[in-house]
Amino acid sequence: MKKNKITVEYIRGLKKKHEKIAMLTAYDFPLAEILDHADVDIILVGDSLANVVLGLQSTTEVGMTEMLHHAKAVAKAVKRALVVGDMPFESYQANQERVVENAQKFIQEAGCDAVKLEWFDGCLECARKIIDAGIAVMGHVGLTPQTAEQLGGFKVQGKDALSAQKIIEHAQALEQIGCFSVVVECVPQEIANIITESLSIPTIGIGAGVNCDGQVLVTHDILGLASRHHPKFVKKFFDLRSGILSGVETFIHEVKDSKFPEQKHSYTISKEELEKLRPNC
Ligand code: KIV
Repeated sequence: MKKNKITVEYIRGLKKKHEKIAMLTAYDFPLAEILDHADVDIILVGDSLANVVLGLQSTTEVGMTEMLHHAKAVAKAVKRALVVGDMPFESYQANQERVVENAQKFIQEAGCDAVKLEWFDGCLECARKIIDAGIAVMGHVGLTPQTAEQLGGFKVQGKDALSAQKIIEHAQALEQIGCFSVVVECVPQEIANIITESLSIPTIGIGAGVNCDGQVLVTHDILGLASRHHPKFVKKFFDLRSGILSGVETFIHEVKDSKFPEQKHSYTISKEELEKLRPNC
């Protein structure tokens, strides 16, 4: 049965229906196809592409070229989920005058349905311009990896009343200017609860407790594919790395021992045709 494409309105409606939202990252066609087949609600082409796939240190090292390249592959694979393109640092924080143009590239060139922006000083202005251009925007507050250095590194945000108040205000301001949802990353669950209760748009938590309207994690982390250090909020739902290792090791052994390919993996030519070749060989 053909399933209906998920829209921004549908995502907003899930909060009203008290139905949780499941969001995961993807950076390529095959993984995006599997996530979509599993009926995940939102697929984020995250700028975590930098660390997870490209082996870079920081998400600020990934640019529009790489993000669009991967977003295109994801959007091509997805029939149902809402596809959100994560705007890289260079596309808005470092280049505020080109923010609309860059957001449009995610929609028109890559085929995404919406974009995501992390909170920074000029975030509201950037988000407002994109929304005015008719593009749906997801906000991101709390721990914002693109500006993590200014936040004291990769650590829980909003642990004191003053900083928690700021995060709450950031989320509320994003709702006011028309964002359709907001990612709340690495904040005490009590603060995420306040944000979730005070907004009419859905909150998608990552390290923000169970009461957010939805949850997001990096797919490579939940599948146990990445060997990188994981923060406390990551849960490994499967050990794909072990499975891959075992498959690859068996392949290597079979090649070295001439056990692969077997007859059933090989092609043959008729004896007659082979004979015709012999004199020339
Ligand atoms: O880039 C990313 O993967 C993200 C999520 C994990 C929220 O921003």
